[in-house]
Amino acid sequence: MDALSNRMARLSSVADDKKLMLQEILQPLYLSEETIKRIMDTMEDQMRLATSKDEATRKKSDILMAITHVRCLLDGRENGDFLGLDLGGTNFRVVHVNLKDGVATTNTKYYSLTEEVLSGPCAGVFDFIALSIEDFLKQENLISSEQKLPLGFTFSFPSTQIALNSAILLTWTKSFKCPDGVGQDSVKLLEEAISRKSPNLPVDIVAVMSDTTSTLMAGNYLDKKCRIGVILGTGSNAAFVEHLENIEKYTGDFKEPKQVLVNVEWGCMGDGGCLDFYKTEFEKEVDQYSNHVNSFTFEKSFAGMYLGEFVRLVLVKLTKQGVLFNGQVTEELATRWKFTSGFVTEIDSDKGNDTAKTRQILEKMKLEKLATDEDVAIVREVCDFVVQRASYIVAAALAVLIRHVNLPEVTVAIDGSLYEHHPKFHNYMMELISQLNLHTQVKLILAKDGSGQGAAFAAVAGLRQKEENIVSS
Ligand code: GLC
Repeated sequence: MDALSNRMARLSSVADDKKLMLQEILQPLYLSEETIKRIMDTMEDQMRLATSKDEATRKKSDILMAITHVRCLLDGRENGDFLGLDLGGTNFRVVHVNLKDGVATTNTKYYSLTEEVLSGPCAGVFDFIALSIEDFLKQENLISSEQKLPLGFTFSFPSTQIALNSAILLTWTKSFKCPDGVGQDSVKLLEEAISRKSPNLPVDIVAVMSDTTSTLMAGNYLDKKCRIGVILGTGSNAAFVEHLENIEKYTGDFKEPKQVLVNVEWGCMGDGGCLDFYKTEFEKEVDQYSNHVNSFTFEKSFAGMYLGEFVRLVLVKLTKQGVLFNGQVTEELATRWKFTSGFVTEIDSDKGNDTAKTRQILEKMKLEKLATDEDVAIVREVCDFVVQRASYIVAAALAVLIRHVNLPEVTVAIDGSLYEHHPKFHNYMMELISQLNLHTQVKLILAKDGSGQGAAFAAVAGLRQKEENIVSS
């Protein structure tokens, strides 16, 4: 990481005494090479525990390393009509993928879930999905299809994967607050809703998966070297193609391809304390006032839901110590969660001496009258520094997956608003990856909204596995 003193030297418009105070407050956030290495070692250790044969050992890990049962990637020979569903945020998507010799034509329709449905009994959510599929199949002229259409279901909530088409929900996250559903199989819930609402719907649910798995499948369609899918949006997680021999708990066959996609669920890493060594007062405070206290520890250092709040806490501390805004904290700045990750993206989008976007955000925080040129320069520096740290943390975890894939060239497909819109996240991630000398040529690509299309691709893979009798459990 940029040594802090180098950063301070660049801040030519800031008085020396303020620079010293700024440096002191940012110092605990600085990630040394040793800390990065320790994050990587911790991740490696967590992966090893989570893939153990022994249940008691697995429980010592905070991450899931869920075996997705997706063994095949597409090879360009595929033909036919497939469906994908994507449920995770408030927007729900249904996707129709038509494959002709491996070339996909994709139609997508979005449906919005209301607040009422999101917090009511989960049958309401699944009924909504069933009716949306029916509506979409009418639009696509597939409602009377004689053959059942293979369907892949992206269901982005931590789940225990039992089989390719069976996953038990562990917890609702994000904006879903249904009082029930935990402990149930999301595929069964959907099948029940279909028989309630539209019993003749010509669909066959072949696969259920997390958004990381479907992003990987979509990324692999774009680039055959893609072996890792990452979500860097409101939340964060990753899936990768792991060699079977590295997964002690794997009980399926060892036929070619000797690989299976693994959903890491890294957002919860650290919940048992293994990341305490780098946690700062800011991480602790973000956690204390979050929706899921003591949970999703890793995610809280960098994901979109928390990054703005993280920056806000640093700015408040700097203000209280008199480094910013003449020591005056406005009501807006004092309000938790008011400073969003979108604000950080805006501020970091100012180039060179241009400060227009930063000033707009300061106006939103009612700070425009207080903010001097010096304040503007410090705010920009704080955002850039926190973002560099966030990118390095996620890239350190990603580097461990790259090491596992162990190929000369690896492409990583990334989806999510933070990665897509923040102007520096990509470069900072690449910066750390190249410093780590992984002996792999790494490419990070955007796989925008890949999880609907990727779900359909996983259904394709599922059918192939059935045909070739590849059994993973
Ligand atoms: C959260 C969910 C995880 C999902 C990720 C990205 O961490 O727990 O299942 O993959 O967000 O959407």
